[in-house]
Amino acid sequence: MAAEEEADELLAAGGGPARLERLLALRVAGEPLAWVTGVTTFAGHRVVVHRGVYVPRWQSEALVARAIEHLPGDGLAVDLCTGSGALALALARARPQARVLGTDLDPAACRCAAANGVEVHAGHLADPVPEGLTGQVDVVVGVVPYVPTAALDLLPRDARDHEPRLALDGGPDGLDLLRPAVEAAGTLLRPGGALLLELGGEQDTALAPTLTSAGLGPTRRLVDEDGELRGIEARRRDGV
Ligand SMILES: C[S@@+](CC[C@H](N)C(=O)[O-])C[C@H]1O[C@@H](n2cnc3c(N)ncnc32)[C@H](O)[C@@H]1O
Repeated sequence: MAAEEEADELLAAGGGPARLERLLALRVAGEPLAWVTGVTTFAGHRVVVHRGVYVPRWQSEALVARAIEHLPGDGLAVDLCTGSGALALALARARPQARVLGTDLDPAACRCAAANGVEVHAGHLADPVPEGLTGQVDVVVGVVPYVPTAALDLLPRDARDHEPRLALDGGPDGLDLLRPAVEAAGTLLRPGGALLLELGGEQDTALAPTLTSAGLGPTRRLVDEDGELRGIEARRRDGV
């Protein structure tokens, strides 16, 4: 974000010179802007972001746009690792009659998602999704932690020094959560249902065997305007 835009957001959140000075000091110390102001915008929606909770990235907006396309008006969606609930909120706003659930392991994230009006269930990946929904879900979307541990030091300062490692660290190859997320999607989705996962590098290739054994495919690569891999989309096969 441009410096002028940041300044405008800080001024809008300000509420008087003394408070504005406090907010500025936090920002100068490297705290993410969304923690300082308490809000951000994601896919055109105002999202509350509590201090300590991963800040939703504009780069995930394309993924949720695809997820919305796959979600019927009265459908059912699960947002794995929902964080602030930004993706779940965007889905629910686009499909007000649908049921959209988020899950997260971090109680602080769950409180934040609830503050954003998201139906959030605390626990590991899909474990807290009510059993009766197995095989019924139209869309599983996830921005799970996928940064390889060795690459964490290369992240921008706001993320590296402030955001919780739990939100970012995907293990040695970044696949520690991606693999079980794919397996969970294979169980949750109805035949024809869609999985949308954010990832990068060559993680699509590394995930291919897991996708196949979970009954998902064919897999479509989602790339950004520079041709960089940003995610994958795969459908649950019939009769698997
Ligand atoms: C990269 S953040 C994404 C948050 C949100 N989806 C977004 O894009 O703004 C990953 C989230 O996964 C959560 N998380 C980490 N390990 C988890 C696990 N095993 N099960 C569920 N959530 C987990 C973290 O607490 C964090 O909120």
